[in-house]
Amino acid sequence: MHLRQLIILILPFFLSIPALAEGAAVATEAVKVAEAPQADAKRGKEIFDGICTHCHRIDYEDSAVGCPGLKDVLTRHDAVWLNQWLQGPETFSKQDETAKAVVEANPYGLIMPTLPEMQIEQNRKDIIEYLKTLK
Ligand code: HEC
Repeated sequence: MHLRQLIILILPFFLSIPALAEGAAVATEAVKVAEAPQADAKRGKEIFDGICTHCHRIDYEDSAVGCPGLKDVLTRHDAVWLNQWLQGPETFSKQDETAKAVVEANPYGLIMPTLPEMQIEQNRKDIIEYLKTLK
């Protein structure tokens, strides 16, 4: 076989290597996107119904012990604030003026407890996604 013929034969193989590598990178990227869990309002509602409804209502009314009704809560606080509040209301209310005011507004001196379930980022994301639907 002549050298020229050989080159023609193997050239497509070399040319395809970068394309293959690129394909693999795209595939890895797709897996990453698929693995990054999205905020899930439905799951958020399940967590909410299991924990938060002990104290909160989802209309405008405060509960019997003065826990704020959570309707329209995203017009009062943004998602970043809510994320910090949910993770640690007791700590956050010592650092943030708005959080402090929210605690002081409770007529019974009750402070929202730091909940173990809210130490999981995905749970907070899902709850916030659910809170967005309370309009
Ligand atoms: C043991 C009762 C209790 C539980 C359980 C509880 N909270 Fe609270 N929450 C409170 C109280 C009381 C306040 C008012 C601020 C304060 O005094 O700490 C509050 C305030 C809030 C606020 C601020 C509302 C506003 O209008 O500023 C949000 C948001 C909130 N809670 C969300 C939640 C979510 C979501 C859950 C469930 C994961 C939850 N809470 C569970 C008692 C509770």
